[in-house]
Amino acid sequence: MLLQIAIEAIQPHVSLSVEQIGALLETPPSALMGDVAFPCYALAKIQKQAPHQIAEQLADQIQLHGVEASAVGPYVNLRYDRGYYSNILMQEIQQPDYGQLNVGQGKRVIIDMSSPNIAKPFGIGHLRSTMIGAALYNMYEMAGYEVVSVNHLGDWGTQFGKQITAYKRWGNDEALKENPIKESLRLYVTFHDQVEHDATLEPEARDWFRRLESGDEEAVRLWKYFVEVSMEEFNRMYKRLDVTFDHVLGESFYNDKMAAVVQDLQDQRLLEQSEGALVVRLEEKGMPPCLIMKSDGSTIYPTRDLATAFYRHDVMKGDQLLYVVGGEQKLHFSQVFAVLEKMGAEWVKHCTHVHFGLMKFEGKKMSTRRGKIVQLEEVLDEAIARALQVIDDKNPDLPNKHDVAEAVGIGAIVFGDLKNNRVNEVDFSLEDALNFEGETGPYLQYTYTRTQSLILKSKLNEDEQELLSSTPSDQIINPLGESGWELLKVLTRYPQALKRGIHNNEPSVLARYALDVAQAFNHYYNKERILDQNQDLRTARLTLTQLTGDSLQRTLHILGIGTPNRM
Ligand code: ARG
Repeated sequence: MLLQIAIEAIQPHVSLSVEQIGALLETPPSALMGDVAFPCYALAKIQKQAPHQIAEQLADQIQLHGVEASAVGPYVNLRYDRGYYSNILMQEIQQPDYGQLNVGQGKRVIIDMSSPNIAKPFGIGHLRSTMIGAALYNMYEMAGYEVVSVNHLGDWGTQFGKQITAYKRWGNDEALKENPIKESLRLYVTFHDQVEHDATLEPEARDWFRRLESGDEEAVRLWKYFVEVSMEEFNRMYKRLDVTFDHVLGESFYNDKMAAVVQDLQDQRLLEQSEGALVVRLEEKGMPPCLIMKSDGSTIYPTRDLATAFYRHDVMKGDQLLYVVGGEQKLHFSQVFAVLEKMGAEWVKHCTHVHFGLMKFEGKKMSTRRGKIVQLEEVLDEAIARALQVIDDKNPDLPNKHDVAEAVGIGAIVFGDLKNNRVNEVDFSLEDALNFEGETGPYLQYTYTRTQSLILKSKLNEDEQELLSSTPSDQIINPLGESGWELLKVLTRYPQALKRGIHNNEPSVLARYALDVAQAFNHYYNKERILDQNQDLRTARLTLTQLTGDSLQRTLHILGIGTPNRM
């Protein structure tokens, strides 16, 4: 919006297109210099004149109402009239469709997210995938895309042979029902401990998996049972995070769809023998070969992902396929995409591995194999308990404390993750994430409650109304105050933030944006008397407060974070 005004002011006087001007505009290093700056180097080249001369001429020529232009060296700085533009900008932001883009109209994007493995703990990587995926889902939706999420469960593979073997030997039904992942994990760990002493375990596990693949009744029954109990536990987590999926299609869903892919690879002469296995060579792309079929004839993870990609493109009609999966699978996805390209699937250019870095908890890594893991639910519980403690200290009489604590505790974790550039490693500290004064979810939630309590406090009875004074609007030079004007400018940046976040598949852009809004608001809150005795100032400042609350709420909801009215 700010840029549109600048373009409107500049365009009549220069030989540049709207897009060209837009791309050149900058924010001046200090707000005192102006609201928008236009560098004149590009024009200088075209007109073969010195930039500062052009700046001077242009500054003289500009005469849009409410815009003051001044030349500073090679720049033209534009300063907007606060009295005139405050209301115009606020009205635009108030439109119900503000910030909804239409860049995605008619396009379907499929997001592979969460995708935990059955009978294994819901890892921290799956948590990151769930949160980043859910945020991207909302972001794309806001931009007009049709979004479809798929939870690509790891529900197939040789590990189920091991799982069944272990269950048969050491399983305990009661424990499995009670605490499915813990019990599955115990079985898993026991298997791996025992396999070193017991040579019969491996062949037995292979046999169970073979039986499972050939549809053996008992094997299938046990497998379904594992899937079911694990899902119950995962669903509890999803419910707490308030995440849903359009489809839950595990790897097993593609069992009958891989033969066609293997056949296609064969027909295209892309398969080669390698030590009894079938692979697609990828030397020319500088990658190791992609394993398609093991020597015993079983298909594996990459083959499933090939079948999955075809299904998502051909059947689900996805125009864009996103895979929100940890960075440790970079090679896997590079290989899968490379094979797709070799197969002539030109649409592979619309497939993106949205990778992310490792997350550690207070410096501790998680490893499933040895059973030394930080249990995720415990982390959630701990965050909520600590949030409750803070509320008990600060605001012991708050109604529905527990709901608020849940929103704050979960918000702390979600924001603590999403504020980071996704490719970075995160060392998560609960203490930091819950700091109400840091760059945290609770800080944003708290700022939101500030806007709401101001609005509540602003409601006056008739007698109080009468006491307010008023000023003719043309005498109000800067109704919001300079800090309010700066806040308003931040609010106008929302569509750009959303666009950039989508372009980079990066929720942190919106997280940072929310921090900017909160910071600008808190500055405004400390500087300006929002509930002024002057009716006109009061109205304008409250409108800005309301718009700030809306903006925080909208952005936090996109990120998957709740906004209680009080805390
Ligand atoms: N289940 C896998 C894992 O936990 C992640 C699956 C990601 N999605 C995919 N289409 N490969 O490592």
